[in-house]
Amino acid sequence: MSAGKFITFEGIDGAGKSTHIAFVADLLRQRGKHVVTTREPGGTALGESLRELLLHEKMHLETEALLMFGARREHLAQVIDPALARGDWVISDRFTDATFAYQGGGRKLDRAKLEVLEKWVHPHRQPDLTLLFDVPLEVARMRLDTTRHLDKFEREKAEFFTATRAEYLRRAEQFPLRFRIIDSTLPIPDVHKKLEEIVASL
Ligand code: TYD
Repeated sequence: MSAGKFITFEGIDGAGKSTHIAFVADLLRQRGKHVVTTREPGGTALGESLRELLLHEKMHLETEALLMFGARREHLAQVIDPALARGDWVISDRFTDATFAYQGGGRKLDRAKLEVLEKWVHPHRQPDLTLLFDVPLEVARMRLDTTRHLDKFEREKAEFFTATRAEYLRRAEQFPLRFRIIDSTLPIPDVHKKLEEIVASL
């Protein structure tokens, strides 16, 4: 059996990544792959409980980073590592790049501290492919469905998202082999075409 791959979806809130996850999962399934889709923070029962706290409770920014990595440890142990060991493909809606972008870029937590946690929690695991859905801030803000209750992050100011987006783009430059930047201002059929090309090249 051929080995599965670990694909992560990233982008600031409102970048539109979530709508494309099902599309990529379907593409892979059409190619006969067994696909597990999951998300962070979350993906396990404990992780989903932590997600509730992370998205709605005020906390120290280091507590936030530690809980993100705590949820991630459980996610790796219960879902990601076993699925990859079986040869499945794993698609995660966010992973460690989100912590660098949101807690590091947005909240300005020292990157070196996050690197320590990353080495602790997944010293030997990185995504094979990270799809970064990139949009200017104004577009992302327009896309946020403000009719529903916004979570703690979605209520952040423009400066927070400018810094978050900049850190995502910096990481894409730092890790060019695994990152693909998708211009998420393009019409959906164009984004799908791009995703089809990327999946075909895997
Ligand atoms: P998101 O993935 O956007 O889900 P939804 O589409 O349901 O709103 O929500 C998760 C939020 O958590 C998002 O605002 C980014 C934030 N987040 C971090 O700040 N750090 C992290 O490490 C992760 C995984 C997410």
